[in-house]
Amino acid sequence: RVAVEHPNPVRPLDAVAHRGASAYAPENTLAAIDESAERGAETVEIDVQLTADDEIVVMHDTTLARTTDVEERFPGRAPYDVADFTMDEIRELDAGSWFDSSFEDEPVPTLGEALDRLEAHDLNLLLELKEPARYPGMAELVAEELTDRRHWLRHNPPWQPRHLVVQSFDWQVTERSKELMPSVPHALLGRVPEDRLDEFGWAHLINPNHNTIDADYVDLLHESGFEIMPYTVNDRDRMEEVLEMGVDGFITNHPDVGREAIDDF
Ligand code: G3P
Ligand code: CA
Repeated sequence: RVAVEHPNPVRPLDAVAHRGASAYAPENTLAAIDESAERGAETVEIDVQLTADDEIVVMHDTTLARTTDVEERFPGRAPYDVADFTMDEIRELDAGSWFDSSFEDEPVPTLGEALDRLEAHDLNLLLELKEPARYPGMAELVAEELTDRRHWLRHNPPWQPRHLVVQSFDWQVTERSKELMPSVPHALLGRVPEDRLDEFGWAHLINPNHNTIDADYVDLLHESGFEIMPYTVNDRDRMEEVLEMGVDGFITNHPDVGREAIDDF
């Protein structure tokens, strides 16, 4: 295993707001970031992809259909892939009404707009590169944007909460991103098999689905020098179970419930 700056076990536990506080506001919008701050989150997870004109846009699905009114605004543009729309077109969409009419006309933000809002609330960021194989050059563009805002790249002293973590299910692109931003801790999404852990000495965290872990796996990750924050833990009893396993935090649609579970732990 290559020597890396390893996590400090006294670092505070974190209840990361998944796609923003997505139980309470439309996922991956500025409203969901605001709601995260109001609900006591310290860190927000968002997903990013690239538009047709290479803007970095905050969106989970690779199509715009589920979380916007794209089908009404742009009929005939099926399958409504993010990659087929320019940022100007995406700016016309309503990404709030599908969730609740009180969020009508909530826009789809760019990464830059999300960073502005996170900075305004002094929130940390867990940034997921979503399906980067579809978007050649995405890791490079994201690294450029973050490098332009140098404070996001500052070293994370181990006694402070995580400031920025970049993660992806695509472990190759995650490694590429780590090369581009060596000061930023990176996370592998998914369960890395026990016999492959030593391939990933450059990674700081492994963030698997909470249904795929147990206390032995958490112990093994810690012994191997990784932190672990499973996703997506929404049930209060399950939060307590993963905390008992020894996780370093978890990703949840309910950061307020997560905060309470951590405080009571
Ligand atoms: O942060 C982990 C989690 O977001 C991964 O799953 O599908 O919600 O992006 P997904
Ligand atoms: Ca995600």
